Amino acid sequence: MSKSIGLTLLGCGTVGSGVMKILAEQAELLKRRTGLNLELRHLVVRDLGKPRPVPANAKVSTDLRDAIDAPDADIIVELIGGTGMAKAAIEHALKLGKPVVTANKSLLAAHGAELFALARKHNTCIAFEASCGGGIPIIDALTKGLIANRIDALVGIVNGTCNVILTQMTRSGWTYEHALEAAKKAGFAEADPTLDVSGRDAAQKLALLASLAFNVNVLEGDIHVEGIDKIDATDINFAGELGYVIKLLAIAERTCSRDARVASSGAQHDGDTGVATTDRLALRVHPTLVHKTDVLAEVSGAFNAISVYGHALGHALFYGRGAGQMPTASAVLYDIVGVALGTIPQAFKQLSIFPDTTPRASVLPVAQLQSRFYLRLMARDVPGVLAEVTDALGRHKISVSAVRQHEPDDVGQFVPVIITTHRASEGSLRAALKEIDALNTIAPPSVCLRIVDQPKEFAAE
Ligand SMILES: NC(=O)c1ccc[n+]([C@@H]2O[C@H](COP(=O)([O-])OP(=O)(O)OC[C@H]3O[C@@H](n4cnc5c(N)ncnc54)[C@H](OP(=O)(O)O)[C@@H]3O)[C@@H](O)[C@H]2O)c1
Repeated sequence: MSKSIGLTLLGCGTVGSGVMKILAEQAELLKRRTGLNLELRHLVVRDLGKPRPVPANAKVSTDLRDAIDAPDADIIVELIGGTGMAKAAIEHALKLGKPVVTANKSLLAAHGAELFALARKHNTCIAFEASCGGGIPIIDALTKGLIANRIDALVGIVNGTCNVILTQMTRSGWTYEHALEAAKKAGFAEADPTLDVSGRDAAQKLALLASLAFNVNVLEGDIHVEGIDKIDATDINFAGELGYVIKLLAIAERTCSRDARVASSGAQHDGDTGVATTDRLALRVHPTLVHKTDVLAEVSGAFNAISVYGHALGHALFYGRGAGQMPTASAVLYDIVGVALGTIPQAFKQLSIFPDTTPRASVLPVAQLQSRFYLRLMARDVPGVLAEVTDALGRHKISVSAVRQHEPDDVGQFVPVIITTHRASEGSLRAALKEIDALNTIAPPSVCLRIVDQPKEFAAE
């Protein structure tokens, strides 16, 4: 005996039409596996004139309220996007006690805690698997599969557009502008790609993922963000010579191990969250040199991957298609089924890991973020330049790991000098770089990128 579940779909664009396709083509499989008869009953769009393969018994309209209020609408699926109309629609549904499924990371990164609290107040839930990592079940992993793990770090490639562009620059030697135009033509970048290439999309996803992984409320504004739009093909080549590829990484990590910190500071644990009260998160999104032996270096094109480091499991890698019609629809269907079966509402009710029930994140100031660094200086080829540069670094206690310079064509020309450093703080590096760029022998601005090495345990033997 199958149970019928009525769906209201708000938005039928890229993702919404994928959801309709799965509902139409996989109805039997879903019914056989879940015992659910998922029926699309209401569909809301902006333009009624667009041709769409709507099921015969579904009502199509432009009226969000009607489609949410309808007594036969059991689950509201928001696939409009943005933080305006989508927010109002979700709030309206939640106030009626109706569960909401959404793929809207922008909305949740900005208003997640408020919307989760509203859902809780009205004894319902929000499911959001499709908001991060497209079809990769990373939300499910963080909220269920890894529930017994204290998570120490989460490092991800979570923006397919940036990964497509950087992959093409690396493989084909293209400039950023050329790779961006090719990505637009191939449908991997929007006409206005700002949200993606600025790193903001990745930061919104990181805010959500870090909130769940570390059981604190992380907002987009907590994250230090740099995009890929300033990446020069020269640096991709030099990184390659050094054994690295450049990836846009979203990184969230505890700043020191719990045991060491508790032993040294006597920090208290918060009984509700399991997080020591002195915990600080290092949160950033930026182009990063990733060693070629790191699994993330192999993640190419539109694929996403998220490395999670749990104290019990160790390293787990979640890899797959991070966007696109069918992968994202796959995650939306996972949520619809989870809500209909009651597993997602139960977890939402029981688990104290969602941003409305957890404290605000304590975030490490940008100046204190620690990395190794890659510097590209344009230095005049005259005696003493390197000594001046290493002096400036030394004054800020930054230790040089390697220096590389190609032979100049002519004496006295400006030539690129590549310096890699040992771990140092962002603040020290910035101060040293200011002094270096003020030298007569350096043509500013120098390029500064971070190098993130794999934790030792996972490095190649
Ligand atoms: N595309 C992806 O690969 C992807 C991946 C992960 C997450 N997401 C998220 O999924 C959500 C949807 O993305 P999408 O790419 O499917 O967007 P999209 O293709 O732009 O579709 C948006 C849909 O919303 C409808 N809509 C817009 N304004 C409306 C209004 N005022 N009233 C009623 N309907 C309205 C549009 O109607 P018309 O069809 O009539 O224009 C369209 O059907 C976003 O939150 C996005 O961030 C997308």
